[in-house]
Amino acid sequence: MTEYYINASHKKNRINKEIYGHFSEHLGRCIYEGIYVGEHSDIPNVNGMRKDVVDALREIKVPVLRWPGGCFADEYHWMDGIGPKKQRKKMINTHWGGVIEDNSFGTHEYMELARQLGCETYINGNVGSGTVREMSEWIEYMTFGGVSPMADLRAQNGHPDPWKVDFFGVGNESWGCGGNMNPEYYANEYRRYQTYVRQYAVSDQEPSINNPELIRKIACGPNTDNIEWTETVLKTLFQHNMPAYHGLTDGLSLHYYTVPGSWEHKGSATDFDEKTYYTTLSKACYMDKLIRMHSGIMDKYDPEKKLGLIVDEWGTWYDVEPGTNPGFLYQQNTMRDAIVAGIHLNLFNQHSDRVKMTCIAQMVNVLQAVLLTDGDKLVRTPTYYVFDLFKAHQDATLVASHIETIPIGNEGDPVPNLSESASVDQDGRLQITITNLSCDTAYPIHTHLAGFKAGHVDAEILTGDIHAKNTFEQPDAVKKACFSDVTLTEDGLLFTIPACSVLHLTVEAP
Ligand code: AHR
Repeated sequence: MTEYYINASHKKNRINKEIYGHFSEHLGRCIYEGIYVGEHSDIPNVNGMRKDVVDALREIKVPVLRWPGGCFADEYHWMDGIGPKKQRKKMINTHWGGVIEDNSFGTHEYMELARQLGCETYINGNVGSGTVREMSEWIEYMTFGGVSPMADLRAQNGHPDPWKVDFFGVGNESWGCGGNMNPEYYANEYRRYQTYVRQYAVSDQEPSINNPELIRKIACGPNTDNIEWTETVLKTLFQHNMPAYHGLTDGLSLHYYTVPGSWEHKGSATDFDEKTYYTTLSKACYMDKLIRMHSGIMDKYDPEKKLGLIVDEWGTWYDVEPGTNPGFLYQQNTMRDAIVAGIHLNLFNQHSDRVKMTCIAQMVNVLQAVLLTDGDKLVRTPTYYVFDLFKAHQDATLVASHIETIPIGNEGDPVPNLSESASVDQDGRLQITITNLSCDTAYPIHTHLAGFKAGHVDAEILTGDIHAKNTFEQPDAVKKACFSDVTLTEDGLLFTIPACSVLHLTVEAP
């Protein structure tokens, strides 16, 4: 019997809803075909956005959407994507497949998508090949409500009212595709560029960190375990008697992908053995170490944990599906991906004192997508259902919890058999999510609740063989189901979690 302890009276911090964020880049069939098909498409759409995709995404309550990249962001010139579509410039998408980008999806279309999704906006600016002026004018174009050249241009293009930009990234992967900068150089560039990300929406520009009234600015953080980058950027941002959080930045990004093999041979999304399954999970669990590593450095400069660690690219990255464009990063999604997502989301909850936002890469048709499309067909992936099961944690309060685990998997590189997190939501219900990493073993779990009397439980589960997936022929092979085998005990709950599964329990007081 596995013992699991939850103390609902020991309230920790809020689990920001933005932890459940998504990323959509001008890459392969993510934006074009996957989300945007244009007003004249036969595929049912509202102002060009696929209705089926938007409806599915609304169900999982997408809280925030990052756009337009990724590597694409540092080659994106926003003025190419406004005005009459026929006159918009065509360009080559040099990073992703060398295809023609016709700019038919630009700022107005992104804002319309965010409106339809009911989500916050997170725009990534161009530092690599752009200018301070270009970035500053984009902010003016999007957010200034008075009379100015950019506000007038926006009105001329059909949108007199300003939009709200919730988050703004100053450069993407500036250590790599975003300009190959060294950390000190980037941090100084960051200081300069962010100065002109003006807070037009508020008259009182008194700096305050993580203020939702303001545009929250995100600095480019490290790749994986590059602690030198984190240290140097923070040191430079906190220099000159000007603490970074006095309006300079609200967060530092972190990118880490779960790649089962090497970058050259990443491995197949669907054809893998048990050993590779556990290697993949072990690499996913590495996120825990990375968060601790970078948070440790952040603690030195910001012990009050005001700055967010923004994991705005995470997920699995495999070889592309055979026969597809290698630059499109199209991959299938199995129960293995669902377990990877379950591991990550529990970790993000557990570290939500520092992790303030994350974005899975990417939302549709690219990498660990929650949705796949083919023409007018749509498939919800196993990962989609994990976001569905976890959405109950959005803006809930993390509570203290501990589960007894045993090491399983590959010799010399084990993973814990179980991962979990628990929160109390705004209606006072206890929300619990548990992931069973084992490919073949179910575990009986005795949950001991302190500070909470269980009166009623609703539970739902996603489970299946590690290779189980949804296809366009069989779109519902894997989907969430009700889970009724939960017994209330004197001090909590008793249930058995099946192998390879993600379980969500909502516990209500009597
Ligand atoms: O998500 C795909 C790419 O991965 C992004 O464009 C880039 O930021 C990262 O290297």
